[in-house]
Amino acid sequence: MADLNIAIAGDLHDQWDASDHLLLDLIRPDALLLVGDFSDGYSRIPNLLSQLELPVACIVGNHDTGKDGSGKRLREQLELLGELHCGWGLRQLTPPGLAVVGCRPGTAGGGFTLSRAVRSVYGPVTQQESADRICRAALAADPELPLVLLAHSGPTWGDRDLALAITLIRRRRPVPLVVFGHMHHSLWRQLGERHSFHRDQEGTAYLNCACVPRHGTDDRGRCLRHFSWVRFQDGQPNQISHRWYGLTGDLLYEQTLWSAAALSRC
Ligand SMILES: [Fe+2]
Repeated sequence: MADLNIAIAGDLHDQWDASDHLLLDLIRPDALLLVGDFSDGYSRIPNLLSQLELPVACIVGNHDTGKDGSGKRLREQLELLGELHCGWGLRQLTPPGLAVVGCRPGTAGGGFTLSRAVRSVYGPVTQQESADRICRAALAADPELPLVLLAHSGPTWGDRDLALAITLIRRRRPVPLVVFGHMHHSLWRQLGERHSFHRDQEGTAYLNCACVPRHGTDDRGRCLRHFSWVRFQDGQPNQISHRWYGLTGDLLYEQTLWSAAALSRC
């Protein structure tokens, strides 16, 4: 199985533009995942994402409803995103060979609550039904492909349906990676301030990608762009890090969160 390099953009909060697309052309990840909170309900970024040529999967966050309970603003963005958005569904990226399962769209963490906007678009959904949808999507995935659960809010940071889904999926197949955002961190300024990575006893890696703001400048005045980065080898995460790139594609800073090589040395 070929090695894979997956870039994950945490909560964008309006920080996504042509410079990110140019950078992706330079650093060439095999796929791009986005965990939502693109902006506050505007269509600019979904429109940009729909123009990307590399394999992309995304999920919307709580901010993407734009506080519009009618769901109109959310619907507009979902229409622009089309098949890129995989909330409560499976998106298999072939190439490069990755099964991405979107979890509950628009979640704000804190257990299980559907916002008015999400109810308007998707109808009423119970916690159990949400977990079952995530589980069904995961079990429909090609078992030969590495599986990634893509969420806006993580299971240990609040989404009970996602935690339940992981338990259900594990009865049938392993869950090597869960990526999400929502709980912001600013690791660039204060490395390690917020714990953004966890790996449990069953080998599932949990990666909080919400480095906000993701556009920055270092002490030498160089522009920085943040991506979380996961390298898969033989279908398993092999190295997980936060990366800050310069606009010319140079990897200027990297914080390694986990490495299989380090584990095997222990
Ligand atoms: Fe956010």
